[in-house]
Amino acid sequence: MSTSTTLRTHTCGELTAANIGSTVRLAGWVARRREHGEKLAFLDLRDYSGVMQCVIDDGTDARSEWVVQIEGTVTARPAGTVNANLPTGEVELTNCTLTVLNAAEPPPFPIDQRADEVDENIRLKYRYLDIRRERMQRNLRLRAGVNAAIRSAMDEQGFVEVETPLLMPSTPEGAREFLVPSRKEPGSFYALPQSPQLWKQLLMVAGLDRYYQIARCLRDEDLRADRQYEFTQLDAEMSFVAKDDVLEAISRAVVAAAKSATGDAPPPIERITWHDAMNRFGTDKPDLRFGLELVELTTVFSGTGFKAFATAASIKGLRVDAASYPEAAAMGRNKLDQLTDRAKQLGAKGLVWMKVGDAGALDSPVAKFLSDTEKSALVAALGATTGDLLLLVADEWSTTCTVLGQLRNDIARPPVHEGPYRYVWVVDFPLFVGVNPTTKKPQPGHHPFCHPHPEDLAKLETDPLNVRALAYDLVLNGWELGSGSIRIHEPELQRRVFQLLGIDDETADRKFGFFLQPFKYGAPPHGGFAFGVDRLVAILAGEENIREVIAFPKTQSGLDPMTNAPGPVEATQLGELGLRTLPKPAN
Ligand code: AMO
Ligand code: AMP
Repeated sequence: MSTSTTLRTHTCGELTAANIGSTVRLAGWVARRREHGEKLAFLDLRDYSGVMQCVIDDGTDARSEWVVQIEGTVTARPAGTVNANLPTGEVELTNCTLTVLNAAEPPPFPIDQRADEVDENIRLKYRYLDIRRERMQRNLRLRAGVNAAIRSAMDEQGFVEVETPLLMPSTPEGAREFLVPSRKEPGSFYALPQSPQLWKQLLMVAGLDRYYQIARCLRDEDLRADRQYEFTQLDAEMSFVAKDDVLEAISRAVVAAAKSATGDAPPPIERITWHDAMNRFGTDKPDLRFGLELVELTTVFSGTGFKAFATAASIKGLRVDAASYPEAAAMGRNKLDQLTDRAKQLGAKGLVWMKVGDAGALDSPVAKFLSDTEKSALVAALGATTGDLLLLVADEWSTTCTVLGQLRNDIARPPVHEGPYRYVWVVDFPLFVGVNPTTKKPQPGHHPFCHPHPEDLAKLETDPLNVRALAYDLVLNGWELGSGSIRIHEPELQRRVFQLLGIDDETADRKFGFFLQPFKYGAPPHGGFAFGVDRLVAILAGEENIREVIAFPKTQSGLDPMTNAPGPVEATQLGELGLRTLPKPAN
């Protein structure tokens, strides 16, 4: 691809020893200026592609961030001045003629990697300068490459790209919505889509067969490293499919995206059931980059005299779980007390820690309550060795798993972008998660439209909490990348699920009518998936925060320091919308 234009023959980063002797014209920003005597100056000229050293020997006013055009001859750098760290480090531009295209004020922070240390509010206030930097250029280009790879993987598989509305009715999808007041219907509101879920299912009824969209979604939720108000999904839906078809199609897009970013295709993506993920890693977002799996020890303590474990070992449904941390026995008392407090915050009744000494000796405040047989069985079951720290919790299954799983992450989880990429499909999520304390009805794990697992249909009414859903997530290094499901397409089954949730026909019609009505006209079996492009790109770019791969993100508090959004609007504008604002509540 040629990058030459009317104003330049080459880009700054592309010149090498192969170009020695040619006359070239470059255009870009002055990255750095070094004086060498009265008239002699070395300018590093920067554009998106890199930096080229230019030797100016007849003086120039150009300072940092001035926009200039320089014509000169590509020359080998004198011996001893070659910069092996720079792609253009063997050459420089001499016999230069410099034309100032635009002068510039001194920038508020240096436009190089030192800007990483600048307060993020300042970086975002001057985002257009921040993006001049190599890191942001690389991230945004990597993102564009990922989008292109996703598009071609989806196109190749026969998916049709369809744009769906941004102005839509308010729908019950989980997160809080952003609302848009209607001028024509004062007092009425559109909602911005949390996802194109509704539309993509309608496109299946419409016979499109395979839909996708690189879709902007909006959710008014608290912002974190992996969450923004506005984010992007690869959103897809397919007709006449079972779970495996969806996983296969999405895997192809993910593999293509990963390959475009890193050059390597990841190995085939592993699968784990939700139950195994909870059992082994204590979370539905298992980070497979490290082991330290949880181990059930209920039988080890079946006859124990230690009160806290005896109850758990004797009551069905309660259990004792543990994990072993190599070389963590050096942890001081203070740190262990913090872990105990954390375990209690997370819902455990307590936390037992034990340090493994020589010959399986256990150092712990509760060691004296355990028999020698229990101690050696414990060490054997965990495969623990000298220097290990053991953490034990006795409780209900879900509590032991989640508490120990969270401690495992707190203690041992590396930053999300470090080390290998470990993708995993988590399948067979439960259809319901617990019981709503007010309605006493089961609560949907995802949404009420997920198809129950066909093997579990018979116990839908009798044992709903043990019914699996045809719902699955994709997890990368402990981050949820995406989720999806096979949807219910049979009205009778949908009615059964609604009934379990305490939603009668009349309420279902009122709340979801616009969605359910189309299903009466021949809905094919269908299912789909959506993954977060920002999250995938961040990890592939080696970033810990999705803000680093979004051109113009909001701060953690949801503000844009550059445009000062959100801001007040004129009273007349509010009037047209039939709105009046209340004073800001006092904190
Ligand atoms: P879900 O709500 O799980 O599923 O969203 C899918 C993926 O979107 C990304 N994501 C976000 N990324 C950044 N900031 C956010 N605030 C944010 N919220 C979600 C995550 C998440 O895994 N319609 C269903 C999909 C389906 O069933 O087909 C859906 O939206 O990576
Ligand atoms: P207690 O019998 O409550 O004084 O607790 C004795 C020790 O066992 C303390 O270190 C508690 O933190 C711990 N402990 C109590 N209950 C549990 C439990 N369910 N699981 C793990 N440790 C516990």
